[in-house]
Amino acid sequence: MKAFRGEILSVPDDPAHAGAEAIRHHEDGLLVVEDGLVLACGPATELADRFGDVPFEKLEGLIVPGFVDAHVHYPQIERIASHGEQLMQWLERHIFPAEMAFADRAHADAVAAFFLDELLRHGTTSALVFATVHPGSVDALFEAALARDMRIVSGKVLMDQGPEGLRDSVESGRADTEALIARWRGRGRLGYAVTPRFAPTSSRAQLEDAGRLLAAHPDVLLHTHLSENPGEIAYVAERFPEAADYLDVYDRFGLVGPRSVFAHCVHMSDRALGRMAEAGTGIAFCPTSNLFLGSGLFDLAQADRHGVKVGIGTDVGAGTSLSVLHTLGEAYRICQLQGCCLDPFRALHLATAGGARVMGITDRVGALLPGQEADFVLLDCAATPLLARRCAGAPLHDRLFALQVLGDDRAVTGTWLRGRPAHPGAKLISRARRPARRGPAWKERRR
Ligand code: GUN
Ligand code: ZN
Repeated sequence: MKAFRGEILSVPDDPAHAGAEAIRHHEDGLLVVEDGLVLACGPATELADRFGDVPFEKLEGLIVPGFVDAHVHYPQIERIASHGEQLMQWLERHIFPAEMAFADRAHADAVAAFFLDELLRHGTTSALVFATVHPGSVDALFEAALARDMRIVSGKVLMDQGPEGLRDSVESGRADTEALIARWRGRGRLGYAVTPRFAPTSSRAQLEDAGRLLAAHPDVLLHTHLSENPGEIAYVAERFPEAADYLDVYDRFGLVGPRSVFAHCVHMSDRALGRMAEAGTGIAFCPTSNLFLGSGLFDLAQADRHGVKVGIGTDVGAGTSLSVLHTLGEAYRICQLQGCCLDPFRALHLATAGGARVMGITDRVGALLPGQEADFVLLDCAATPLLARRCAGAPLHDRLFALQVLGDDRAVTGTWLRGRPAHPGAKLISRARRPARRGPAWKERRR
């Protein structure tokens, strides 16, 4: 048993529904961890009777649950910031060529290791991740995640109508998916997602088969893209004239349910959102991606009106940062452009417990509740001179908002997975120039 003492904040429930009750803040808090799980989390004085003898580490900063990235593409990390196109042309020009390189397992291994170390450095401990069409790209990611003890859900991309060199078939897609599920089921903190890229790159037969795979494996997710870009939506309407809308294309193949996660959902009808709410389907809101590709503004208020569950996705490489903190700042701006105001506590909820809900892992992570895995992040409100000035003497609400608007990986002092400092290798490079007082990773290195 061990403990961590410091200022602790978590938002297990959505403040939009639960109000201020949803916010758990302990100015002098104690997080008690046993065998990697949270045993207790509360005011240090209240827990002193029960855990006074437990050795604790004092952490300077704000302790929050590890971030959950509900939609990101690891093979695209090296194509982030690719200039000049919107979705369909961007895929053709920048992304498909990059993904072809993942036929090479050594390349996949190298990128997977870099990507996961970057996630940890940015404070992300759980993620729903796109790989490529190559099954080896999933093996590479899962092996690297297992070595780091990260909670990663991924799957081989199904795309039998994709470009030459990046195409599977209904049969190979099914066989590879089945083999990956069998190979990785129950290992570490990994999960599988049946992953048709999006309706334009799969045949009807493949979408139907994806529905069969989802039904055959009650423990897997369905992960894809939906209604991101007007050109994409027009193309889908042309290819599937029988469907009521884009969501209905997936629905007709049994792909809309409580284990489904759709990235983007920027241009949605009330019918489609009503159907998502009824089915218990989740949305990954990807602000930086939607701005970068000029896709449009996700309407959080509309999703709220229907009661659809929402998480936050960085969607790198269309997204411009792996920092969930920074992504929350962009989410705020997108809401502002539509006359709606995203509260910083709600934003933190969406990026932690909200994302966990979308991924179906609220029993495991997201809120530092007893029994959950002790994945957490230490944030530094003085990480930059400007943050320090803005946050000096400021109340929690203002500090949290400043972290979202001004913060990024620089504000993440350390990341812990199941109560252990995460993969020191990731920190050695990034933290080498920081003063010792800032983080346990640095201290680890000096020991
Ligand atoms: N739609 C289909 N594939 C992709 C992708 O790789 N990125 C984004 N942003 N949208 C997609
Ligand atoms: Zn995406």
